[in-house]
Amino acid sequence: MHVSYINLLAAAICRSGSWRSIGIRATSYRGLCNSPDSFEKISTIIRDKCENVVVMAGAGLSTPSGIPDFRSPKTGLYHNLQKYKLPYPEAIFDVQYFIDNPMPFITLAQELYPGEKYRPNLGHYFVRLLHEKGKLLRMYTQNIDGLERLSGIPGEKLIEAHGSFSTASCIVCGDKHDPEAVKKTILAGKVHLCSCKGYVKPDIVFFGEQLPGKFWLHNLDAIAADLLIVLGTSLEVHPFASICDAVPYRTPRILINREVVGSLGLRDLDHVLVGDIIENINKLAQEMGWLDDLIALQKDNENA
Ligand code: APR
Repeated sequence: MHVSYINLLAAAICRSGSWRSIGIRATSYRGLCNSPDSFEKISTIIRDKCENVVVMAGAGLSTPSGIPDFRSPKTGLYHNLQKYKLPYPEAIFDVQYFIDNPMPFITLAQELYPGEKYRPNLGHYFVRLLHEKGKLLRMYTQNIDGLERLSGIPGEKLIEAHGSFSTASCIVCGDKHDPEAVKKTILAGKVHLCSCKGYVKPDIVFFGEQLPGKFWLHNLDAIAADLLIVLGTSLEVHPFASICDAVPYRTPRILINREVVGSLGLRDLDHVLVGDIIENINKLAQEMGWLDDLIALQKDNENA
């Protein structure tokens, strides 16, 4: 069987997470998929071989904090939005739909407002630890829950590509509004109105809206990075997902996710850890000798 067929077959097997049952060693699949020595290889790369790490994160990083992701079957947000009778799940982040019917987003925002109910988890603190060890070049996140900021990752290292609740604007005239006043209105279950009578929403990037200008820094960061780590994302949404293919072939890429996504695992320097993100990060930190620092960082920040 030609090598490329083995890789494609192994890619499919790894995606299904059943490579063990079929017995084909995932190591024939160039991206190591939870192979016995993958934790050792990955920990050596992170601890000893890099100092400019770019991290890409999605909703799977926040599920251990109790926030549902979007697309997981049965538990994902898009599965749970049926009560809003949306024409399609993503309508909740569609500007036109928000104008016609703001309440589904308002209800979701009440759930997601940072610092209200949810706290960062060990996955967030792992990225913070990369910063503390002088290794974090930048973290690009799709998440709007603000948990990266709450974990203490500094603003200049954090790109909230799909926006955040930390600022708010009128969708008609663009006027900036006091985010605390907008938060108070939304937590009261109401729509915040601008003096021009337009609706005011937190600066979450809705489908069709421009991503923040600093997102495009990724074109430089992708070249400067000596390691890419992808955490908890389906890589379904572009242009965010394109970052992972923007890094050159010489740059190792590590995916930590429930299943294999995107092009991860198909390059020679790819490594893949499938399964629960916290379990894998725990094992990785243990292998790196960083687990005590990681737990101390989380404890200090959560008790601050
Ligand atoms: N451990 C490991 N992986 C997990 C865990 C977990 N505990 N929980 C979820 N995942 C994985 C899921 O299997 C999935 O592959 O994280 C990924 C989450 O994917 P999505 O739900 O699609 O979320 P995300 O990739 O962030 O979505 C991107 O879509 O709707 C838009 O704007 C929205 O920013 C969002 C974007």
